[in-house]
Amino acid sequence: MDFVRIFDTTLRDGEQSPGASLNVHEKVEIARQLERLGVDVIEAGFPISSPGDFNAVREVSRVVRDAVVCGLTRAVPKDIDVAVEALKDAVRPRIHTGLGVSDVHLQHKLRISREEAKRRGVEGVRYAKRFVEDIEYFLEDAGRADPDYLCEVVEAVIEAGATVINVPDTTGFATPDEFGALIRSIIERVPNIDRATVSVHCHDDLGMAVANALAGVRAGARQVECTINGIGERAGNTSLEEVVMGLKVRAAHYQLQTRIITQELYKTSRLVSNLTGILVQPNKAIIGANAFAHSSGIHQDGVLKERTTYEIIDPREVGIPESKILLTARSGRHALTHRLEQLGYTLDETQLDRVYGRFLQVADQKKMVYDEDLEVIVADETSSVRVTYELVQVQVTSGDRSIPTATVSLRGPDGAELTDSDHGTGPVDAIYRAINRIVQTENELIEFSIQAVTEGIDALAEVTIRIRHGHNIYTGRGSHSDICVASARAYLHALNRLIENRESTAPEVALDQV
Ligand code: KIV
Ligand code: ZN
Repeated sequence: MDFVRIFDTTLRDGEQSPGASLNVHEKVEIARQLERLGVDVIEAGFPISSPGDFNAVREVSRVVRDAVVCGLTRAVPKDIDVAVEALKDAVRPRIHTGLGVSDVHLQHKLRISREEAKRRGVEGVRYAKRFVEDIEYFLEDAGRADPDYLCEVVEAVIEAGATVINVPDTTGFATPDEFGALIRSIIERVPNIDRATVSVHCHDDLGMAVANALAGVRAGARQVECTINGIGERAGNTSLEEVVMGLKVRAAHYQLQTRIITQELYKTSRLVSNLTGILVQPNKAIIGANAFAHSSGIHQDGVLKERTTYEIIDPREVGIPESKILLTARSGRHALTHRLEQLGYTLDETQLDRVYGRFLQVADQKKMVYDEDLEVIVADETSSVRVTYELVQVQVTSGDRSIPTATVSLRGPDGAELTDSDHGTGPVDAIYRAINRIVQTENELIEFSIQAVTEGIDALAEVTIRIRHGHNIYTGRGSHSDICVASARAYLHALNRLIENRESTAPEVALDQV
């Protein structure tokens, strides 16, 4: 069977989801997991856009051994120079450069003629080719472009040295039959297309990204660009897990395979969700909490008699942990380490100390500790966000006859304990106001969500929040059996991220600023 390459852009297009900003350590952690998952290409960032993106591409290039590491650029020498520098330690570097092709992009965004756009594209590829052999060219907004002009550009950039042709449906406008026909016509009409791999990059504005990508594959594309959990600009990108499992479960139909180790899918999904703070909807195909839950009596009866009556995928195939082993305070450090290893975590001694300390607290409060509890404990205790302010204590009074009031103690940057109090419209508001009095960093809370990690009244609460500071959005997560403490932890996590990122004040460059 023929192979389809999986190009993961979680760290670039995925990170363009509002509030998904990741620090360099988090990006490296995700890149390592993407390698374990077996992706062929990791797009690690847009190096010229910010020092953070440059560092991420450089650090990912240093740790990834097997996959191609790719950096995005506009088709201009200064972007390409910066990307070449960021990719210099990569074993298999790729430059991903390109320009708009639709008339709406050429006339209103770039304000250049078709001829000029083609000339700039060709020049960009020729320039990049001086430094790197593997050049991918993106035809931005191909989904709404004139196919004749599109084919002209494809032929010219392949002639200039492009090895991969990326056909993005940037706005998620195409339907599967249209998009499949577009890919087929490029393959049939461009005379030198046999010298390049055709790639599809579909957005989900009409909920058709996965269908469009698979239609492109049916028509001859041999690379799919996608993200874990489908995160990305606006409504998101093609979901990696859906495309991969579509090709695997329906192999007889597609006659194609990928190199993805599907047993790593669930773990990768959890990692990306934990680090970006973007929760996975429960009914999400393949990795959602309900993807393998059978609720109606008739279905339960069927599955108990024969799993395949209502399940087309064995949950083990996507790495959903089979037995939910329970740990208790008496389980000890050895049992905890063993279970963490089984769940795929390798922690160093310091991390293990923190996780074990927290595990004992949780086990004391809720007696039974489930795998899901361990996942949030590990996420909380091994976060690589620099801790400028640490929660020491929080105390709240609230009720329908009293004014919600909170007193908070934090350990500040110089180790001193700082305490303050305030009141608010509710207990969380009071806590956040008290924290604000200490940290004094202006921001706006734009999203707050809370969910129970497991069932039962003693479940851990996991709070995810987003705060806005200027143009930037920061995510914070925190867990605890007390929802007020979990809320305080989440807020401090977001504030620490904001403080850490405040140093990189360089202006961001967008793709349209040519
Ligand atoms: O959606 C898009 O067109 C992109 C390109 C930059 C590849 O993300
Ligand atoms: Zn995109």
